[in-house]
Amino acid sequence: MTLGRLIDLPVISDPRGDLTFVEGGRHVSFDIARIYYLYNVPVDAERGGHAHRELSQVVFALSGSFRLTLDDGRERREIWLRDPRKGVLIESLTWREMDAFSQGAVVMVLASHPYDEADYIRDHDAFLAAASERGRPPASPADGGAPT
Ligand code: TYD
Repeated sequence: MTLGRLIDLPVISDPRGDLTFVEGGRHVSFDIARIYYLYNVPVDAERGGHAHRELSQVVFALSGSFRLTLDDGRERREIWLRDPRKGVLIESLTWREMDAFSQGAVVMVLASHPYDEADYIRDHDAFLAAASERGRPPASPADGGAPT
């Protein structure tokens, strides 16, 4: 898994402006079940601060810029988003934080599932435990697993 894989969207440019589109299953690996956007964000706001058990998302700066910090429990990565054609894939069990918003920034998020508060992990220690659990190989008898 690549932490924060970049997704490049097409652009159709003509003298009237630029047009970018995104298709579920083509530009993003999942079927898009939900779209939400952040706007009127104070420049000193800190958003995110959670992970998701199952949800995958792709995040774009439609306007302005912000900093996205990702952490999968092993690696931490900072990405500055400022190009509406470039999204970042956030896979499940990835802790994310968003800050350093520019004035008037608009963030669009494509999500693989409808909103479900039970899918959130809002405690960082609980996230680390879940991430390490997922990264662990299944127990085998040699590890003291099932008795023979
Ligand atoms: P949250 O996901 O914590 O925002 P962010 O990660 O951008 O800081 O959501 C903030 C609040 O909005 C929280 O009470 C849940 C609610 N919410 C919905 O009701 N539906 C949604 O689709 C989303 C994304 C959030």
